[in-house]
Amino acid sequence: MSQTAQKPKILLARSVFPDLLAELEKVAIVQSNQDDHLWNAVDLKAALADKDAAIITGSERIDADMLKASPQLKIVSNIAVGYNNLDMPAFKAANVMATNTPDVLTDTTADFGFTLMMATARRLTESEHWLRAGHWGKFSICDAPLSMDIHHSTLGIMGMGRIGQAIAKRARGFNMKVTYFNRSRLSEDLEKECGATYVDRETLLKQSDHIILVMPYTPENHHLFGEKELNLMKPTATLVNIARGGIVDELALAKALKENKIFGAGLDVFEGEPKVIPELLALKNVVLAPHMASATEKTRRAMIQLAIKNCLAGLNGQTPPNLLKA
Ligand code: DGY
Repeated sequence: MSQTAQKPKILLARSVFPDLLAELEKVAIVQSNQDDHLWNAVDLKAALADKDAAIITGSERIDADMLKASPQLKIVSNIAVGYNNLDMPAFKAANVMATNTPDVLTDTTADFGFTLMMATARRLTESEHWLRAGHWGKFSICDAPLSMDIHHSTLGIMGMGRIGQAIAKRARGFNMKVTYFNRSRLSEDLEKECGATYVDRETLLKQSDHIILVMPYTPENHHLFGEKELNLMKPTATLVNIARGGIVDELALAKALKENKIFGAGLDVFEGEPKVIPELLALKNVVLAPHMASATEKTRRAMIQLAIKNCLAGLNGQTPPNLLKA
């Protein structure tokens, strides 16, 4: 058998830095997508059919039907920490491994959560648009775009995994009171390290000046943030979502923002991304970002490298470092 014939076949579903693609091509026959087109389900299924492995992003959904049609597939390596794009019971049934990229993006994502919270509370993008539109005629004490403080305010973190904890640690530097809600409570030591107090969900909604969503997206928390939850928030509060768009009922959020039921929202993720509903686009009191919380070059490189490492480990018969439990 020639050397080429022994190489595994890998689908690298999206564009990556060329040097990393070149590295992968040394050890595998790679079907790449350097023009970075989005896949439809039919083409993705066809591309997977003869592959031993796939390296994908959260934009590619892998379901039971695709797995059934890919008899050689051993592993799907997600370039993301979130993996709601993978049908995990189907992976178990098909005996295909799935991996993600935790840790390498924690600090970068936490930084961006903070950035979005600050931009929202301090009305940064709205003010910049106002300035660019030529409305800044004079310095004004009371007529400036007045905003909300971060320091000494109460932060409510929904989801206290790695990223939630990293946000809590940043908040201490701003003298914030940090509260959190999570499926399971952190150990006392970890709570102390993060300077965070556990509260129930309703308390968090009612007492927080700023709420940030960082929990994984599951069928149970689909549209968890709807009219009822938004009505419990303070009218001076902000809501930031760096988790997944589907956790928030976007129409209810747009209505609450329009009626000034809450002060503002910062959104990095959207239910129908890359499409953003017009109801949100029309509002001034929302900061919108194109799913970029982990997007520094250093972190995106680290995510791709870890995804490749996971993929090759699985193909070589080893347990990938970030194997997901089905
Ligand atoms: C993640 O890692 O889950 C980010 O949202 C990028 O998909």
